Amino acid sequence: MPTIREVAKQAGVAPITVSRVLNRSGYVSQDVRERVERAAAELHYIPNMLGSSLRSKKTHILALLLDDVTNPFWTTVARGAEDAANESGYYVVLCNTDESQIKESQYVNVMLKKRVDGFLLVPVGIGRETIQSIRAQKVPLVIIDRRVAGEAIDIVRSDSEGGAYQLTRHLIEQGHRRIAIISGPENVSTAQDRVAGYRRALLEANLPLDETRIYWGKFVQSHGYEATQAILQLSPRPTALLTSNNFIAVGAMHALRGFGIQVPQSMAIVTFDDFPAGFTIDPFLTTAAQSAYQMGYRATELLLARILGPATNSIQEIVLPVEILIRQSSSYVLPKN
Ligand code: RIB
Repeated sequence: MPTIREVAKQAGVAPITVSRVLNRSGYVSQDVRERVERAAAELHYIPNMLGSSLRSKKTHILALLLDDVTNPFWTTVARGAEDAANESGYYVVLCNTDESQIKESQYVNVMLKKRVDGFLLVPVGIGRETIQSIRAQKVPLVIIDRRVAGEAIDIVRSDSEGGAYQLTRHLIEQGHRRIAIISGPENVSTAQDRVAGYRRALLEANLPLDETRIYWGKFVQSHGYEATQAILQLSPRPTALLTSNNFIAVGAMHALRGFGIQVPQSMAIVTFDDFPAGFTIDPFLTTAAQSAYQMGYRATELLLARILGPATNSIQEIVLPVEILIRQSSSYVLPKN
């Protein structure tokens, strides 16, 4: 990688002069400026930011740790975070944890060593150790999506309980009395909240709470597929499924198709997380759509306020509403054609 000395030699000046030109600090003549800039361009020189960061103690880099970079829900969160960061002259480094505590811890250690200015964290499981290791270094941190019990900390999340309640109410209003839920990991607050909303709607409608209709697991297709296979063995069989995210719903649909079961005629499905516009030509799934972009954007705005603003002990919990989109997967309007 070209060095500042090589640029100085090619421009016929001292290294300090190159630094003055590139940092636009101190006086240099127009002729010297042009010679230095031409030499830097010819050598494809990239300044080493570590030096300026050591002096300013800022890298203008934020670390975003999220749990499944293949899920468009998270890439939409990341897009919101990046836009908010860029608007303030900051950059986002994306870290994919795959719901692994080991990966989460590794990324936190690497990002702390890289002296990022702040963390946007989607905690894996309970996430308390990770939060404490970041706080011990006094690096600003905002949690995205999932609450961490017992930790008073800034968070931006959705109303998962309310969304699941509304989806379950919708199914009950469609005439369903045996509804199963395929949720995420039992130690993740969004999975817990979605089961809580499901329970509240059943209780309010005086419907039985059958624990054999509640399935915990990862927010992935295989969990949706396997749980649906088990649900189809229940007797009497449920007539509707609430899946706790889009990937679980896709897995459930594959399982139902494998058994020749039609949606919604023989099994209704409702879920969380809409696919971004354009991903599907004719959106089919009834869903509680989260404001994923706003979740990332608002969390980054809050983090930057903690980095740039005056120190404060106030903690913010921003809860974004979900939008219920009723589509063919749960309505008894037979599919077109
Ligand atoms: O797809 C991941 C799911 O887990 C989303 O619903 C999000 O809310 C997270 O909790």
